[in-house]
Amino acid sequence: MSASPNVTVPELTLNNGVSIPQLGFGVFQVPPGETQKVVEDALEAGYRHIDTAAAYRNEAGVGAAIAASGIPREDLFITTKLRNGEQATAAEAFENSRKALRLDVVDLYLIHWPVPSAGLYVDAWKAMEKLQAEGAVRAIGVSNFLEDHLETLLADASVVPAVNQIELHPTLQQEAVAAKSRTHGIAVEAYSPLGQGADLSADAVTELAAKYDATPAQIVLAWHLGTGNIVIPKSADSGRMRQNLAAAALTLTSDELASITALESGNRIGADPATAAFTQM
Ligand code: A2P
Repeated sequence: MSASPNVTVPELTLNNGVSIPQLGFGVFQVPPGETQKVVEDALEAGYRHIDTAAAYRNEAGVGAAIAASGIPREDLFITTKLRNGEQATAAEAFENSRKALRLDVVDLYLIHWPVPSAGLYVDAWKAMEKLQAEGAVRAIGVSNFLEDHLETLLADASVVPAVNQIELHPTLQQEAVAAKSRTHGIAVEAYSPLGQGADLSADAVTELAAKYDATPAQIVLAWHLGTGNIVIPKSADSGRMRQNLAAAALTLTSDELASITALESGNRIGADPATAAFTQM
C-alpha cells in the first residue's frame, strides 16, 4: 500500500457538534527546535489535525509551521493541553498556549492529566468551560482520565468532555475507561497508538500486513480507525508520516479487527494516571 497525499481522512462529530479529523499527527517528544520542520512536513503530507501540549514545549514550533503553511485556518484542527502545574491558573496557561500557537481560537483544549493528588482538576474544568463559553476554544476535553476521575468531573461539570485522550494501543486498550467514556458521549482518542513501536511485531499484525501489502503500522492504525478511536500517531520521518496517513484508506473486517483486539495484555508504557503527578507535564 503506497502513501497517497490525496487520502481522505474520516471526520468524527464530537458531542458538541464540532467535527474532528479521526487521524491526526501528534508531536509528543518532538524536540522544540525540530518541531516547525516536522509539522511542516506533516501538513505537506496531508495531515490537518495536529496534537500538541504546553508540556511538550513545542507549541511555538507548531504555531510557526501553521503560519508558514498558508493553509486556511478553518481547514486545520489544533489540540493543546493544560500543563499539570498550571491547573490552578488555567486561563493564564491557555493564553500562553494560544500566543505560542499564534491562534485566536484553539479547536480542542484538554486537561493533560488528572493529578488526583492535587485535587484541582474540577477547578481547572470550570475555567475551561468558561474558555469555551467565551469562544476561545471550540471544544474541551480531558486526557488520562480513569473511570473515577470521569465520575468526579461529571458530577460537577456543566459541559461533558468532548474527548478523553488516553494511552491506547493493541496491547493496552483500557476497555473499561474507553467504554465509560463512550457511554457518556466522550470520544476516545488514542495516544501512543503504535505502542511506541512495540505492538508492530505481533503475529496478528504482521499477518494482516502481508495480506494487505501494508505495513504493520498501517494495520494498527486501521484497527484504531475501525474501532472508532481518534488516533494521533507521530513520526519524525516524512515517509512514515505519509505511510501512517494512508492507513485511512484501509478497512479491516470485523474478524480482522477482533484478531488485533485479542492482543490486549495490559502493557502500559506511559505513566499510570492514578498516581502521575509530574509538574513539568
Ligand atoms: P519515527 O519517528 O522514527 O518514525 P507512538 O505513536 O505509539 O508513540 O509511536 C511512535 C514511534 O513509532 C516513534 O518512535 C516512531 O518513530 C515510530 N513510528 C511511527 N510511525 C511508524 C511506522 N509507520 N512504522 C514504524 N515505526 C513508526
